Amino acid sequence: IGLNFGLLVAGYLLGSIPTGYLIARGFYGIDLREVGSGSTGATNVLRSCGKSPALLVLLVDVLKGVLAIAFVLLIYSLEITPKIAASANISNLNTLLYWMTTAAGLMALLGHTKPVWIAFKGGKAVATSLGILLAFDWKLGLATLGIFALFIAISRIVSLSSIAGAVGIASLMVITGQPLPYQIFGIVGGIYVIWRHRENIERLLKGTEPRIGETLSTEA
Ligand code: G3P
Repeated sequence: IGLNFGLLVAGYLLGSIPTGYLIARGFYGIDLREVGSGSTGATNVLRSCGKSPALLVLLVDVLKGVLAIAFVLLIYSLEITPKIAASANISNLNTLLYWMTTAAGLMALLGHTKPVWIAFKGGKAVATSLGILLAFDWKLGLATLGIFALFIAISRIVSLSSIAGAVGIASLMVITGQPLPYQIFGIVGGIYVIWRHRENIERLLKGTEPRIGETLSTEA
């Protein structure tokens, strides 16, 4: 129990590394929470600082998700598997692993969006979700990326594409009969990602949400 709790805290802490905030503040003197959309994610870094820092933030934020899951798998393989394998209960172990990686993934999303270090004002959980999905099963990650890329190609609006990715992957998880914990991650994570985009949704409905390369009209 103590170890599992520790893994959840580790998931939160990994997610809470405020990549975008650190890069924008450190190299550009910009507080992302006060410019553009106020998000510390790669899209707001792109808007406020430029392409290279945005790409870096995107990659590190994806990596945070991958690591949150990889850490659970690593600790389990070192600490838990030998014990459970000794009692020959492998199917229990697999079920436990699905639930633990799912819970650690959700904690990483919480960390990314509500980082304790910067007054709980973080990003919108898109890049970190992608990392988690890639770590669950690379095919799930690629499918999400595909849906996102399709919507980017059509609309050039990141928020709309993120929302489409969230709806798409939640549906795919259920339709393709993924393990129950993964389905729950798809649905809970998807709803959370959409909820984090509620200001974007308001702008989308008003027709004022910026496309890539445009500034937010409230900035003008
Ligand atoms: O990944 C976040 C993206 O979907 C929207 O970001 O800054 O336009 O609110 P932003």
